[in-house]
Amino acid sequence: MESDRPKKGAEMRELTVLENAALAIKDGVIAWMGKDAEAAHLESAEVIDAEGRLVTPGLIEPHTHLVFGGSREHEIPLKLQGVPYLEILRQGGGILSTVRATRNATKAALKLKAEKHLDRFLSYGVTTLEAKSGYGLNKETEIKQLEVVKELNETHPVDLVSTFLGAHAIPEEFQGQSGRYLQEMVELFPELKARGLAEFVDIFCETGVFSVAESRDFLEKAKQAGFGLKIHADEIDPLGGAELACDLGAATADHLVAISEEGIRRLAGSDTIAVLLPGTTFYLGKDVYAPARKLIDSGAAVALSTDFNPGSSVTENIQLIMSLAMLKLQMTPEEIWHAVTINASFAIGRGEVAGQIRVGRAADVVIWDAPNYHYIPYHYGINHTYQVLKKGKCVYAKRIRG
Ligand code: NIG
Ligand code: FE
Repeated sequence: MESDRPKKGAEMRELTVLENAALAIKDGVIAWMGKDAEAAHLESAEVIDAEGRLVTPGLIEPHTHLVFGGSREHEIPLKLQGVPYLEILRQGGGILSTVRATRNATKAALKLKAEKHLDRFLSYGVTTLEAKSGYGLNKETEIKQLEVVKELNETHPVDLVSTFLGAHAIPEEFQGQSGRYLQEMVELFPELKARGLAEFVDIFCETGVFSVAESRDFLEKAKQAGFGLKIHADEIDPLGGAELACDLGAATADHLVAISEEGIRRLAGSDTIAVLLPGTTFYLGKDVYAPARKLIDSGAAVALSTDFNPGSSVTENIQLIMSLAMLKLQMTPEEIWHAVTINASFAIGRGEVAGQIRVGRAADVVIWDAPNYHYIPYHYGINHTYQVLKKGKCVYAKRIRG
């Protein structure tokens, strides 16, 4: 799957498979790969016999809301009564309920909780992950969330990429004053840059949240301040978030369930990666999924993600997302593997270092308890990892009875 750029359209089906292969790792880096029969000349201190199992790059998770306080199972009755997601938010629940819990949590408590979620991601085969703020909605708490990401990146085996999502919702104390609120968030840019607290800036461009005009203005300022750009775009209503992402040269446009024909055409002709989140559509109980087939068939680059968060997609199981991509987005297994490795790595600015098994790159590798790559999306809802290697070290292993 070697490539120096994201795979677009039909290229997403060009998957190289080496049968009966061996991989050599030296000092945490992939040193050699080829046929097992040709590996005899390699001197090895340690041999892992994968016994015919599938080996792939470590998975890249390009869109999570990893750090938050509390949980939202108390909103399930409302959900079951059919109260829409944006209506729960309008009533001060949803994202705003998590904001209250996150503001009330200490940094240590947030870190402990985020670490648990991160451990679970790792167990499912994720070796690099993007994490957003967005449950503080004030300067102090947004920084608290981003500090947690930075500290976890220093201690946890999973590599983290952080995104400032201060523009996730309008906090209660700024109701009716979205402009003033966004100005507050813009004031944080210099500190975030100076302290290396965020690489990307994201905004929730949606009816009742932030308009296209507000999103454009906010993201232009973020771009001037030197951040990469991401947009929660066209998730519920077709506002034109995808077109805005293309206008601004954003790294990604995420969600896209309601993307317009024009948005699809624009994305296909751009370098912006479409990050699709079928777990969210599933969890919100919607019938219509993002038009993955149209996007790929038009020539766009597609990545996949859990959208892990406490409201609209409560799972760290990226393998389940791969099954949903197959069943609900009609993506082929080859396209799905590109979407959770190479394309996801480019979606978070790690295309040059992660997402591929390639000589000279860090040995971030998953050994799967599966005979071939079709098997993972096929056998759904469970964890297929056998061993996860990060920089050549085994950081997760399936417990074997014995
Ligand atoms: O990507 N859409 C906005 N933000 C998140 C959900 C956050 C939440 O409900 O807590 C998403 O789906
Ligand atoms: Fe999200």
